[in-house]
Parts: sequence; structure tokens; C-alpha cells
Amino acid sequence: MVFTIKPKISPVKGKRIVLGISGGIAAYKTPLLVRLLKKAGAEVRVALTEAGGRFVSELSLATVSGEAVLKGVFPETDTPGADFTRHISLGEWADLFVIAPATANTIAKLSAGLSDDMLSATFITLRPDRPVLIFPAMDGHMFRSPSVQRNIRTLREQGCQVFEPESGALASGQCGPGRMAEPEEIFGRIKEAFAPDTSLAGTRVVVTAGPTRERIDGVRFISNYSSGRMGFALARAARKRGASVTLISGPVQLPTPEGVLRIDVESALEMDAAARERYRETDIFIAAAAVADYRPASPAGGKLKKGAAEMEVKLALNPDVLAGFGKEKRPGQLAVGFALETAGNLESARQKLERKNLDLIAFNTFEEEGAGFEVETNRITLLSRGGAEIPLGLMTKEDAAEKILDALRPAGGSKESKG
Ligand SMILES: Cc1cc2nc3c(=O)[nH]c(=O)nc-3n(C[C@H](O)[C@H](O)[C@H](O)COP(=O)(O)O)c2cc1C
Repeated sequence: MVFTIKPKISPVKGKRIVLGISGGIAAYKTPLLVRLLKKAGAEVRVALTEAGGRFVSELSLATVSGEAVLKGVFPETDTPGADFTRHISLGEWADLFVIAPATANTIAKLSAGLSDDMLSATFITLRPDRPVLIFPAMDGHMFRSPSVQRNIRTLREQGCQVFEPESGALASGQCGPGRMAEPEEIFGRIKEAFAPDTSLAGTRVVVTAGPTRERIDGVRFISNYSSGRMGFALARAARKRGASVTLISGPVQLPTPEGVLRIDVESALEMDAAARERYRETDIFIAAAAVADYRPASPAGGKLKKGAAEMEVKLALNPDVLAGFGKEKRPGQLAVGFALETAGNLESARQKLERKNLDLIAFNTFEEEGAGFEVETNRITLLSRGGAEIPLGLMTKEDAAEKILDALRPAGGSKESKG
């Protein structure tokens, strides 16, 4: 038998990449990124902001890219034949747009749709199906400010991939999150964008998300602080990997992720019924909803009148949506749950994994800063059926969602352990 070894072709070969560089100190790393891309066979053009030009030389970038660097949207002359469509030229040309470093200022401009230089004009003239990768770099206080976080959220909701800055020593003298990823890391992410992960293609994923509301009377209910963000991030991430995703959501204020079928429910009973209908046609069931354990046993029809100094509401136990799936699970189906526990109570999470017949459980606690309900981030430890314990650092719910799906891969242990 004769084996032929095909040379490995880089996924960026022949691709047209626009690199947007804004005015952060990390801009000095960008000629290295251009070199990596060029060496792999990509065509690279650079959109540099005025401030970016204070941190990295136009000449270096033009030399390594082999192309003129574009800054402003106006042509150099206004004589016939001048470059009058420059402002839309890069957006139409690009197969992918990467912005590194992305300053707080540029992130704000992009989220607001401003267009006063080549970088921002490229963003809004880009073809809608082209990937946008954004690598913020700024000091920790800037990065954590509510305005920057809000703008990043807006960009993510528009489908941009915004990567977390790395932690370490910053130019400001501080230590913490804010450093731009290294050129090799950015290069890796660009390659991934051209060779997307389709590991869940053909897989049917059901995700539950958000709180439930349990009616006391016609106008009042018992609920909890779940925002639904973790479940929505999981639905989005699974869809991105090619799964067909159904998201069963309690009442939340979140837009439906692109391409995901959303079923809105209110109570635990409704969530249970919606999930149960899909048990058989589900390959991976991810229960991220904070389902109320109890509901008022006999909700009143109208509005209960104020009267006695005390009143009692009798509660009835709700069905356990996840345990229900675990019980009926067939070989090949996977069940993922969450355990929100007091800090350090990993053992209780492991018992839940066993009791409910799960393959993976994400242990988190509401007692640590940046974890639990109503925050953008989470600090999770993954426990798999095979006994693996994977502590994830403090990270966004989007990144945590990716890690949870990674852990379901055969190499992650849990799928293999299922026979
Ligand atoms: C020395 C120095 C370093 C800076 N580093 C950063 C940075 O890392 N991140 C950031 O968001 N802004 C940083 N700035 C502020 C930006 O340069 C400033 O907001 C500028 O208006 C950004 O413009 P641009 O987004 O159009 O490039 C820095 C400013 C100076 C003077």
C-alpha cells in the first residue's frame, strides 16, 4: 500500500484579512502578527487609527504587509480618478476583520456604529457573514468599567467574537486583566475562524435557561435572580459548533441567539413539560435554568387581599427537570447540570452528578465575587462522570460555555465514560 502525505495547507492561505489597530500600547506587537499571517499565505491590509499611529510605525506595517496602510477615509487628492470609495474598500474586500489592540475608545465607536476613520468604516461596511475578532487591551479599571462591558456585550450580541484580555503586568504599572493576547494566540484564533469547529453538527442540544416564576395569585409570584445568561451563552456556543439547538427559557431580558429555536415558558411545570416532549430527540441536555424547587400548592385566581398580620402559602414540590432526563437517558445521550452551592462544597455537586445520572456538572458558588447570578462572569469547576475535576478560572459566561462544551468531547472524558 502506498501512503501519500498531503502537505498541510494553512486555513488562512489566500484569505484576505484586514487588521484594525487602535491606539493602545500593545500596538507594538502587531507587525509580528502581520508577519505570521503573511508567512501562512494570507493577504493583509491594515486600518490604523490616528492614535494607533502613535504606537506603531506605518512604515513597519506597510513593509511587513506589502500594502499601503490606510488611516483616514478621505483620499489624498480630490482630482478625478482619486480613491473616492476608500471608506468602503476594506469592508468589501475582507474575508475577516481582526481588531488588535482594540481600545476602549474604538470598542465604544464600533458598538455605536460611528464611522470616522478606516477602522470604524471597515467595521460597518463589512459583509455580514464575515467573522470579526476583537482583542481588547487596556488597563484593568478601564476594562471593568460598566461602559466598556456594556459596549462589549453589544458587540457580542451582534455576533463579534470579543476575546478576554489576558492577565499580567500592564504598561500602567498595574497587574490584572488588560493585556492583549500574544500575536501567536491571535493568529491561532484567526485560523480557527476559518476552520470553524463543527464538532456538534448533526447533534440535537436542548438547553434550559433563566428562572421560573411560580404563581402565588394572579399578580404575584415566587422566583429567583437567575438572568439566563449562562444558558443563553451555552445555546449560542452549541449553535456555533453546528448543533441544532432548542432553548427552553424562563422569563429573561435577553435576545435569542442567532439560529436557535427558543421556547418561552414561565413555571417549572411548563419547563418540565417542554423539556419532556424533547427527551427522546435530544442528544445533549444542558440544564442551566434555575428551576424553582417548590411552587404555591394552590395559587389564587385573582389578587389576594391584604388582611391578617401573617399568612401562609403552602408549597408543593416541583418536578426535577434534569433528574427526569437523567432517569430516561439512553446510551449516547448526555446530561449536563449546574450545582450552585456554598463555597467549597464540591462533594455535594459530585453527589448530585451521581444521583441525577449526569455526565458533567458545573459547580459554582454565589459566595464568590464575579460568580453566580446576575453577573457577566462565572467561576466554575467542572466535575465529570469519569472523575475528572477541571477548575476554570474567573471567566465570562461565553468562555465558560465553550469550556463546558469542550469537556463533553470524547477527549474531555465524559462522553467516553458512557459506553
Ligand atoms: C501611553 C498611552 C497608552 C495608552 N494605552 C491604551 C490602552 O492600552 N488601551 C486603551 O483603551 N487606551 C489606551 N490609551 C488611550 C487611547 O490612546 C485613547 O483613548 C485614544 O483616543 C484611542 O483612540 P483610537 O481608539 O481611535 O485608537 C493610551 C494612551 C496613552 C497616552
